[in-house]
Amino acid sequence: MDQVAYISMKNIVKTFGKVVASNHVNFSVHKGEIHALLGENGAGKSTLMNMLSGIYLPDGGSIFIEGKEVHFSAPKDSIAAGIGMVHQHFKLIDVMTAEENVILGKKGLFFRKGESRKIDALAKQFELDVDLHKKVSDMSVGEKQNLEILKVLYQGARILILDEPTAVLTPQETRKLFAIMRKMKAEGCAVIFISHKMNEVMEITDKITVLRKGETIQTLNTAETTPKQLTDLMVGRAVDLTIERLEQPAGPELVQVQGLTVLKREGTPALQNVSFAMRGGEILSVAGIAGSGQKELCEALAGLQKVKEGKILFQGEDLVGQSPKEIRRRGISMSFVPEDRLGMGLVGGMDMVHNLLLKQYQDQKGFFLNKKPAVEKAAEIKEKLEIATPGISKYPVKNLSGGNIQKILLGRELDSDPEVLITAYPVRGLDINTCHKIYDLLNEEKKKGVAVLFIAEDLDVLLALSDRILVLANGEVTGIVDARTATKEQIGLMMMGQKATELEGTAVVENC
Ligand SMILES: Nc1ncnc2c1ncn2[C@@H]1O[C@H](COP(=O)(O)OP(=O)(O)OP(=O)(O)O)[C@@H](O)[C@H]1O
Ligand SMILES: [Mg+2]
Repeated sequence: MDQVAYISMKNIVKTFGKVVASNHVNFSVHKGEIHALLGENGAGKSTLMNMLSGIYLPDGGSIFIEGKEVHFSAPKDSIAAGIGMVHQHFKLIDVMTAEENVILGKKGLFFRKGESRKIDALAKQFELDVDLHKKVSDMSVGEKQNLEILKVLYQGARILILDEPTAVLTPQETRKLFAIMRKMKAEGCAVIFISHKMNEVMEITDKITVLRKGETIQTLNTAETTPKQLTDLMVGRAVDLTIERLEQPAGPELVQVQGLTVLKREGTPALQNVSFAMRGGEILSVAGIAGSGQKELCEALAGLQKVKEGKILFQGEDLVGQSPKEIRRRGISMSFVPEDRLGMGLVGGMDMVHNLLLKQYQDQKGFFLNKKPAVEKAAEIKEKLEIATPGISKYPVKNLSGGNIQKILLGRELDSDPEVLITAYPVRGLDINTCHKIYDLLNEEKKKGVAVLFIAEDLDVLLALSDRILVLANGEVTGIVDARTATKEQIGLMMMGQKATELEGTAVVENC
């Protein structure tokens, strides 16, 4: 006989107006198990977990903990039952310290005495790297996430729900998180892990439940399945996951970056003497560990970052010192998908049309805004990127699923008909099928003759999709290599600071 499940959700139904987010979902997790929830953007993963953590009330169905039915009408009920959730968008108070955030999650700051030692011991037990006296505003994303985990453990969580915890982590931070998850498993806790990264799901989980359009499709043992089978189950049909490089001769050099140096706020260099060229009809990728100057490079190209030295020539004209608006008007479009998707570029309370207007008004002359182009564009983007939304008007984008919010951000950039497209982390948080749609879209831009600068984390994708790869390490270019012949190992070494010219057998296309 099967042991009684730690948590069991049976026949769960949840609707938002006309949207059926959970349609008779069944889901069970056992003690000592890491269980993935897998599904396309909008499949209902976050909604299901929000019901387990008492944020939403189910419209139907039952929840059992160790065989006993429970009713959660608020998060505190779920916390009392040992459930802790770390959300897709963090819920920390920026102006407070780590310790204050942890204590506040359980009781008032009034009861602070004697708690420090308990919190410290807990952090040590689970090997969580948190400086308890640091303010949240000074923390990296990885630190904030550890803090969120510490907060729920302090509340007594034995069932940890992690909603896309690795979407914004560096590979190193992900390794650390996995160690924490394994530790929890060894202590007999249960971990529910939501991620779109198939290799992570395959590595860390014991079981996988696939959701599709609000329904449970299947629960599988990780050891007995493959990424291909999982994707087919998620999408509901066989999906082709090969990434194709569009082979075509590169066009003329459209952008020449010469000796670009950008300083950080504290005065140390974020980019140092960076030089490269972008050609029309070509995808030039940028590889590098997080924080190697990718953000500053994008911002400098878009006119959002002060340049200390160097030139950015576009069709012979220097863009340095020109305003973002002028640069955009020349046909250079930049989209940077931030770690916090709602933090930049979109206003959560506005509908899709008004979010498009935010960008379009810059391109319109005169005082009165013409809404028609935005309505048309919104409808077009919705169709092209298959954005799941009940409506492009009068439906705040913050109610959409994480991935769908992001598709709007991206669709807005891709649709401005640029000559140069700079896109950083465009597939962050997108499901695997949609990722491939985005790769196709980049190829379409390339075919049109657009010079594409593509910044991303997944080296397999960079190697398969791009023509050349520029590697950044500590703000310096360690080499530009041919994506057709370079290997992951070579790029890995260059990301750590080795020059391409010093590596054996690297197909260096340009010395830097
Ligand atoms: N508060 C809400 N109001 C209205 N609709 C909502 C709300 N929360 C979720 N939905 C809708 O429910 C559906 C499921 O969304 P959910 O956020 O659970 O998806 P998800 O599987 O977590 O997707 P992603 O991978 O993109 O995060 C979506 O169509 C979404 O728009
Ligand atoms: Mg979600």
